Amino acid sequence: NKGEFAHYTIKEIFEQRTSVKAATYQEEHKIKVFCDTIAAAGNIIVTGSGTSYHTSLITSMAGCRALKKRFEPVMASEFKYNMDSIDKDTVVLAISQSGETADVLSATKLARAAGAKILSIVNVSTSSLARAADVSLAINSGPEIGVAATKSFTGQVSLAYSVLDRISGGRIGFDRDAVSDKITKMLAGSAAIERLVNVTMPKVNDIYLLGRSIHFPIALEGALKMKELAYVHAEGIAAGELKHGPLALMDKNAVVFVLNPDDKTYGDTLSSAHEVKTRGAKIIGISNVSNDIYDAMIEIPKMENELLYPLVEVIPLQLFSYYLALRNNVDPDFPRNLAKSVTVK
Ligand code: F6R
Repeated sequence: NKGEFAHYTIKEIFEQRTSVKAATYQEEHKIKVFCDTIAAAGNIIVTGSGTSYHTSLITSMAGCRALKKRFEPVMASEFKYNMDSIDKDTVVLAISQSGETADVLSATKLARAAGAKILSIVNVSTSSLARAADVSLAINSGPEIGVAATKSFTGQVSLAYSVLDRISGGRIGFDRDAVSDKITKMLAGSAAIERLVNVTMPKVNDIYLLGRSIHFPIALEGALKMKELAYVHAEGIAAGELKHGPLALMDKNAVVFVLNPDDKTYGDTLSSAHEVKTRGAKIIGISNVSNDIYDAMIEIPKMENELLYPLVEVIPLQLFSYYLALRNNVDPDFPRNLAKSVTVK
């Protein structure tokens, strides 16, 4: 039931107002064992596919910072080629909305055979991946019908952050009510994003998204949403890598999103924005501080801890992809060639 919404995708984008909170309500005994397992691990590998791989990147960076311990993100489809270090001191944290993704299931099976412990974060609590894990936590997002992952992504990040906060004594500072309020404010700006797509945007064939550190996974996630929902070529780039190649692509036809709140990455990312601006690209800034360099700006709130920015930055990118899909006459709920759960390897 889509209710007042035209598509499941937009309904699910708006459900993030509450799903980020639902993700953090967990049974005490389960979350305790989950956290104890991570705290005791010799090495931790975080795996997933597509959007859930982007959660794996964020979880790894945040885990490393909160616990001062190395977390290694590995794409589920690459897992079988990277098995050599896996042993009984390894914990594999597998992340999947459906819990049925074949690459993820196969990774956990191989890891288990090599002696690793398996933890999982799923949305579907009865899924194969929930059963394959020693302990599995569910994000409680409710069914995600749209093929593109939206509320499951922010649910996964919220749950991962509350786990890391619990282990580290609050080093991330994830507060479900505060995050939910900020997401609600971002969603209230949806008409402005729709206008940006329909009025201000030129016909666009190439979109680039730049970000550093914790913003880089959001650059990848935004690009994935634009590709699958609107069928537009989009690329997420670690801003520091521009000069190592992608700068050659920048010209007046490029549209570049810059993920640039005023955290440690601000000055460096602003320099990257200048590099692409000089080549004539149109720049859309996503930031809590304005700057003349942006042709358009999407304002995000200031976050207490920079690790929390992904949860608000991704919202306008989801909305942008949705409205761009409509403009391109694509049904956002069911992109061509894609299945909601990829059960083949
Ligand atoms: C992107 C998308 C896919 C999935 C991927 C993993 O919007 O939906 O990239 O994220 O197929 O699916 P799950 O999380 O079910 O393992």
